[in-house]
Order: sequence, then structure tokens, then C-alpha cells
Amino acid sequence: MRNRITLGEFIIENQKDFQYSSGEFSRLISSIKLASKIVNHEVNKAGLVDILGTSGNTNIQGEDQQKLDVYANEVFLKTLIKREIVCGVASEEEDDFVVIEGKNKSHDNKYVVLIDPLDGSSNIDVNVSVGTIFSIYRRVSPLGTPVKKEDFLQPGNLQVAAGYIVYGTSTMLVYTTGNGVHGFTLNPALGVYYLSHPNMTFPKRGKIYSINEGYYQHFPQGVKDYLKYCQEEVDGRPYTSRYIGSLVSDFHRNMIKGGIYIYPTSSKAPQGKLRLLYECNPMAFLAEQAGGEAIDGYRRIMEIKPTELHQRVPIFIGSKDMVNKAKEFMAKYPEDAKY
Ligand code: AHG
Ligand code: MN
Ligand code: MN
Repeated sequence: MRNRITLGEFIIENQKDFQYSSGEFSRLISSIKLASKIVNHEVNKAGLVDILGTSGNTNIQGEDQQKLDVYANEVFLKTLIKREIVCGVASEEEDDFVVIEGKNKSHDNKYVVLIDPLDGSSNIDVNVSVGTIFSIYRRVSPLGTPVKKEDFLQPGNLQVAAGYIVYGTSTMLVYTTGNGVHGFTLNPALGVYYLSHPNMTFPKRGKIYSINEGYYQHFPQGVKDYLKYCQEEVDGRPYTSRYIGSLVSDFHRNMIKGGIYIYPTSSKAPQGKLRLLYECNPMAFLAEQAGGEAIDGYRRIMEIKPTELHQRVPIFIGSKDMVNKAKEFMAKYPEDAKY
């Protein structure tokens, strides 16, 4: 095998391109890398141990927490808390954000992490790919004080880094610090991530649309019209429908092959389903860095000013031309039109 650069080497080599170059940030990515290997190990043996199924608890959003959801949440939180690298963490699986004191209770760490520890959890029991999504900001509250909610409620365009891990047929860590999107594949025998996909980019347009069409009757008219457009027998269409039900996996495939992922509002979910802070913003940052786009149907996801930790938003994300075409269809109807 030719010599490949490892994730650790890549971080050090590219630290100078990161506008807030600091050892703190490198240590932060390293701890996410470590936690992801632990979760990967557990996901891989999920069928062997008593870890499938629900844990019997529900999260703050009323959804069943799968056992692996709880496990992944614990691993990421513990890794970040124990190493005292960040000043706070917010997780999809936690009701509120967690304050981390740092060395000698100093509260002098600069970064907060927002995380969806296990994305696509309904796929765990059936051996289908799941993922982890993370988003990193610099705190806005003064150093030396405990983090506040405002440190987490920042618009996506202030992210300093974002990424995901996809636990698929192989495990990959894909991230951006605002200098393109880079993908690393885990060599499971060595436990090392190697750079396998430098400078990942969305094809300008593709042929895949990913949406849960089971809710068709409940979608806004603009979405229904766009789906009909995707299915028309003209100009290289119909497109192909592919929906895994793991945002991470659907996004990853669409970035490589070209496509659009949509989770719109519906009469069943008037705000959409996906969470702005843990899912939409980090994926939007990655999409834009890879030459794609991410909107809520009308406006750029990363310009939305968050008001709540667990806020949901609709999302249209992927290849630029496809997102813009969907936007044209959405613009034909007022945003508050009834379904
Ligand atoms: P999570 O497992 O973190 O709750 O996220 C699941 C999300 C997303 O990954 C996926 O695309 C979508 O929910 C699937 O929802 P539907 O089953 O409603 O299609
Ligand atoms: Mn998720
Ligand atoms: Mn989740």
C-alpha cells in the first residue's frame, strides 16, 4: 500500500490554514477521532451484544432513545469532558447544554461542540449505516466564565469546523474547517484514519433525490411539484430515488454521486424534523464547502439565527443546481401556505 497521510498528520500539516490555529483545536479533533473509534467498535458488534433495541427512555423531543444512541452520547461527552478540551457541549440526546469547567475550574477553553452522537438510529437494528455529526464554534461569552446558551445559539456561518463520521461498509470521518472538505477512511486493523478523499466536492447537478416520499400527501405544494419534476420523462430525468433514512449516509452518497436530500415541513411536522444545531448547520457547512448548497426552502440554512437548542428546520441540501431548482418550485407558493 502506498504511503497515505493519516488524519493526525493532516491536522498538524494544515493547522496553519486554520484561522484560529491552536493546539487546542487539534486536541479537540483528536478527541472526536478517538470517541468515533470507540463508537465504531460498538456499532460493529451491535448484533453480538445486548445493545440493540430501545433503552426504554425517550429524549427531550419525545423520541425513543436507542441503546446505541445513549452509548454514543456517553462516549462523546465523556471523552470531551474528561480531556477538558472544550468549555461546553450540547447534544441532541441531552435536555440542556453541559458546562465543562476545564483545568482547575478555569473555564478558559475556547470552543463549544454540538453533536448528534448517533444519526439514523432507526437503522441500527437492521445493520444499515448510521453516523455521528459534529459542529464546533468559538464561544462568544468571556473566557474564564461558565459557557452560556448564547455560545450555542450561533448561526451556522460562524462555525469554525464541522464534520461527520459514517459507520458504513467502511468507516469514514469527513470534516471541514472552512478550507474544503476532506474524507478519511478508518483502517480497522490499525485503528488509524487515512486521507482517502481529499477535497470532496458535490457534482454541480446529479440524478438522485432523497426524501421520505411516504409523507407525500403532507408535503407543501412546492415540494410536491419538485418531486413531479424529478419524475418527469425528459432531459435526463426521471431521477433515481434513494433514501436510507440516515442523513449522514444519504448526504455522503449524494456528495459523491450528485444529488439532493430533502426533509421538508409537512402537515405532520410543521417545522420539519431535523435539528438546526446538531444536523442542519454542520451538514450545510460541509455542503457549501463542497460546492453544494443548503436552504430551508427559501433561505440559506447557515444564516438562520437559532432561538432554541433543539430547534427544527426544513432542509434542502446537496448539488447546487438541484437545490436551486427546488428553490424555484418553492418560491411559487407563499411560505405560510396551507398544505
Ligand atoms: P436521528 O437518528 O438522529 O434522530 O436522525 C434521524 C433523521 C435523519 O438522519 C433521517 O434522514 C431522518 O431522521 C429520517 O426520518 P424519517 O424516518 O421521518 O424519514
Ligand atoms: Mn440525526
Ligand atoms: Mn441522533
